[in-house]
Amino acid sequence: MFKLFVFVLCVTQSLSIDLTVQPYGHGSEVVEAVVSLIRENCILPNDNLLLRRLAYVESRDGTLPLVTGYFGGIWRIDQDMLSKTKQKTPTLTPLHTIIQQKFNRDWSAVSWPELVKPLYSGLAAALFIAQSVDGNVPQNVEEQGSYWETYYRNGTSAYNYTNIVNLMTKGCIGNEAIDLMFIVDSSSSLSRDDFDRAKLFVKNVIEEFTISSTKTRVGVIRYSSQVYQAASFSSPQNKASIEGLIDKLSYESGKTATASALDAALADFQANPRPSSIKAVVLITDGKSDDSIDTHHATDRLKTYGAVIFAIGVGKLIDMPELEYIATPPTCIHSFTVENFQAINSLVEEIQHSVCRAPLYANRTVTCEIGHCPPYAFPLSSLGLTITANITCGVTNIYSSVNQQYPSQASYGIHSTVMYNKPSEFYQEYTGQEQFLYVKVDNKMSDGKTYPNGCWVTLTPHQGQISHAVYIYCEENGVKRNCTQEELCPNGQLPGYNPCTKENLSTGKTKFPYPGDNTKFYLCDLSGNSYVVSCPSGQVFSPSCENCYGLGTGVISNCDNSNSSFNYLCTEENLIAGKYYFAHPDSISLYIQCDPWGHAFVRTCLNLGSNFVWQESKLTCEPRDTRINPCPHMSIDGERFYAFPPDRTKFIECNDQLDPLVINCPPGLIWDDCVKTCSYKTAVGIDCHIDPKGPLAGYIPKI
Ligand SMILES: *[C@@H]1O[C@H](CO)[C@@H](O)[C@H](O)[C@H]1NC(C)=O
Ligand SMILES: *[C@@H]1O[C@H](CO)[C@@H](O)[C@H](O)[C@H]1NC(C)=O
Ligand SMILES: *[C@@H]1O[C@H](CO)[C@@H](O)[C@H](O)[C@H]1NC(C)=O
Ligand SMILES: *[C@@H]1O[C@H](CO)[C@@H](O)[C@H](O)[C@H]1NC(C)=O
Ligand SMILES: *[C@@H]1O[C@H](CO)[C@@H](O)[C@H](O)[C@H]1NC(C)=O
Ligand SMILES: *[C@@H]1O[C@H](CO)[C@@H](O)[C@H](O)[C@H]1NC(C)=O
Ligand SMILES: *[C@@H]1O[C@H](CO)[C@@H](O)[C@H](O)[C@H]1NC(C)=O
Repeated sequence: MFKLFVFVLCVTQSLSIDLTVQPYGHGSEVVEAVVSLIRENCILPNDNLLLRRLAYVESRDGTLPLVTGYFGGIWRIDQDMLSKTKQKTPTLTPLHTIIQQKFNRDWSAVSWPELVKPLYSGLAAALFIAQSVDGNVPQNVEEQGSYWETYYRNGTSAYNYTNIVNLMTKGCIGNEAIDLMFIVDSSSSLSRDDFDRAKLFVKNVIEEFTISSTKTRVGVIRYSSQVYQAASFSSPQNKASIEGLIDKLSYESGKTATASALDAALADFQANPRPSSIKAVVLITDGKSDDSIDTHHATDRLKTYGAVIFAIGVGKLIDMPELEYIATPPTCIHSFTVENFQAINSLVEEIQHSVCRAPLYANRTVTCEIGHCPPYAFPLSSLGLTITANITCGVTNIYSSVNQQYPSQASYGIHSTVMYNKPSEFYQEYTGQEQFLYVKVDNKMSDGKTYPNGCWVTLTPHQGQISHAVYIYCEENGVKRNCTQEELCPNGQLPGYNPCTKENLSTGKTKFPYPGDNTKFYLCDLSGNSYVVSCPSGQVFSPSCENCYGLGTGVISNCDNSNSSFNYLCTEENLIAGKYYFAHPDSISLYIQCDPWGHAFVRTCLNLGSNFVWQESKLTCEPRDTRINPCPHMSIDGERFYAFPPDRTKFIECNDQLDPLVINCPPGLIWDDCVKTCSYKTAVGIDCHIDPKGPLAGYIPKI
C-alpha cells in the first residue's frame, strides 16, 4: 500500500494545451494567441492590428453570443467569405501552403462549422483580408473602418468600427519597465521633411507610454555618417523633456553608419543598466548601411545583450535581407516596410502594441514581481534548456512555448506550477530550428489570495537537462518496483527540501510534513535519507500526531486522545476493508478513528464547529441545523431523509439520535422530495419540493 521513494527532484514535461483550436474558445488571450500565430507565420504581416481589431469589433473577442446555426466564429466569417478564402489565386495559394506546413491543415478541406475554432476563424479572416486587399492592408483606423464597411461586413458603417476600436484597451498593461531606443536615419537619401516626419513618428509612438525613470525610459539616436545621441536613458525621463530633445534634433545628411548607431544604442543600455526592463530598439532606415558586415556584427552584439529590434524600412531602396537580419526573429513581427515617410505614421499603434508585448531577452537568472512580470525569451541551444523557478509566496502558473512568442493559458507548450516552498523545473528539448524558449509567468496568483507585499518569481535557465541522480523505488504489497513519474511528482510538483537533517533527527522525530500536499509526509531513515510516503487513500498527515488521519475531519491539533479501549474496532479485517471510522458509543460529537497500525483514537467533530456531529453513513462530521428538525418524525414513518426548505440544493438526513444533518446535493443537483434523492432540476416534478403531508409541510420552499 505504501509508496516509498528516496528524495527526488521532479522534472515534469509538457501537457500542451491549445485553446486556439478548442471550439468556441474566446477571450482576449485566445484572440492574442491566434493573431500571434498567424502573424509569426507571415500569413498577414504588416496588418497594423486589423486582424486584432476585427475580432473585437465583430464579436468582442468571441464573447457576443453566436446565433444558433451560425458558425463564423470569433471573426464572424460567413459561408461565402470562407469560400472566397479557398480560391486558388496568386495571393492565396502561397498562404494555403503555409497553413499546410505550419498548421498541418489542407485549407480547401476546412468546413464552415470548423470556424468555431478560434484559429480557423482567424486564419479565414486573414485569408479573406489578404484576398480582398491584394497586398495593401488598410493601415490606419479610418481606412480600416471603410475597408470593414465595404468588404468585410457590407452594410455597416465605418464609424462603428472606429467607435468600437476606441473601446479597446490601449497602452502597456502590467509590464511597463521598458528601455526604448529609437535609431533614426538622417542620411542623404532622406529629405528634411522626411526627417521631420520620422521625428513626429517617434513622438507619436511614445505618446502611449508612461515615461519615467522607473517605467518607460526613452533614448533617441540620429545617424548618418556620424552618430548623435539626442536623448539617453540617463536624460531626464519625462514626456515633455524627451519631446523637447526630439524637437531640437536637427537634420544632418551623410552616409549610413548603421553599425555605429547600433553600437551607440548598446553602449547606452550598458551605461544605464536596468536588469528587469525590456530592452527595445526601433530602427528607422530608408536604405542600406555603409558596411553590411559591421552592421551584422553590431546587430548580433545588441541581440546578445538582450535587446529586441524592430526594423522599419521606408521607401523602395531598402536592402531587405539586411533589414530582416537586423530585425529580431520571427522577422514577420519585427520588420516593417512602408512606401514613404508620409506612411510611417500608420505604424504608430502597431509599434506601440509590439513594444508593449516584447519579451525580455535573457540568458541569466531573472526575477519579477507577480503582476509585473514581462514575457521572457531565453536562448535555446542544441542541448535544450531547463528552467527552474521558485516563488517567495503563494502559487502561480508558468507557460512556455518554442513556436509562439506569447504563450499563455490559452496556448502553450509546457505548463508548470510554482508554489511557495515548492520550486518547479521543466525542460525544453531542442528539435532543430527554434531559437528561443518563450516563457510567461501568469500575472495573477492562482490560489486566489492577495499578498500585500507582493510575491516574486525567480527563473533560472540552465543549458541542457539537469540530471538528478535518483535512486527510487515504490513498494506495493511488499513488492519493490520503480516508481512511475506520476508517483514521483504528483501534479508536476517538486518537493522542495530535505527535512531529514541531523538536528531534526536529534529531536527524535522521523516524520515531517510534505509542503503543499498533506496527503504525504517525509519519512526519514537514520542515515538522513528522506522518503516521501503517501497516506492511505483518503487520509491526510497530521504533523502534531506524526500520523495519517481521515480527510474532512480538520487538522488534528491534539494527539493525546488515543484510547486503547476502542482498539477492538481497529481489527485487521476492518482495516483491510477500509473501515477506519466508527461512531462513538457515548457522544454524537465524537467518533473513533483507527490508524493504519491498529490504534484507536477518539476524535471530536466540535473543532469544526459547535454544531458538527458525526454522520456515520457518510463517515464524516456534518453540521446539524437546529432551525428545522423533522427527525422526531422518523420514529413515526421511519423516513430518514427530508427536504431542507431554505435551500433546495441541500437535504436533511436524520441520524439515530434524531439529529438533523444538512447535507449538500452533488453540484448541479437539487433535492427531489418525491423520490427522496438529488436529481437534475429538469427532472424534479413541480410538486416535489416538500412532502405536503410530512413534518415540514408548514415551510414554504424557496425556489
Ligand atoms: C456593398 O454594398 C453596397 C450597397 O449596398 C454595394 O454597392 C457594394 O457593391 C457592396 N460591396 C461589396 C464589396 O459587395
Ligand atoms: C452603428 O452604431 C450605432 C450606434 O452605436 C447603432 O445604432 C447602429 O445599429 C450601428 N450600425 C450598424 C450597421 O452596426
Ligand atoms: C547562455 O549563457 C551560458 C552561460 O553563461 C552560455 O554558455 C551559453 O552559450 C549562452 N547561450 C546562448 C544561446 O547565448
Ligand atoms: C530562488 O532561486 C534563486 C536562484 O536559484 C535563489 O537565489 C533564491 O534564494 C531562491 N528563493 C527562494 C525563495 O527559494
Ligand atoms: C529501475 O530503474 C533503474 C534506473 O533507471 C534501472 O536500472 C532498473 O533496471 C529499473 N528496475 C526495474 C525493475 O525496472
Ligand atoms: C526540520 O524540519 C522542518 C519541518 O518540520 C523543516 O521546516 C526544517 O527546515 C527542518 N530543519 C532543517 C534544519 O532542515
Ligand atoms: C476510553 O474510553 C472509555 C469508554 O468511553 C472511557 O471509559 C475511558 O475513560 C477512556 N479512557 C481514556 C484514557 O480517556
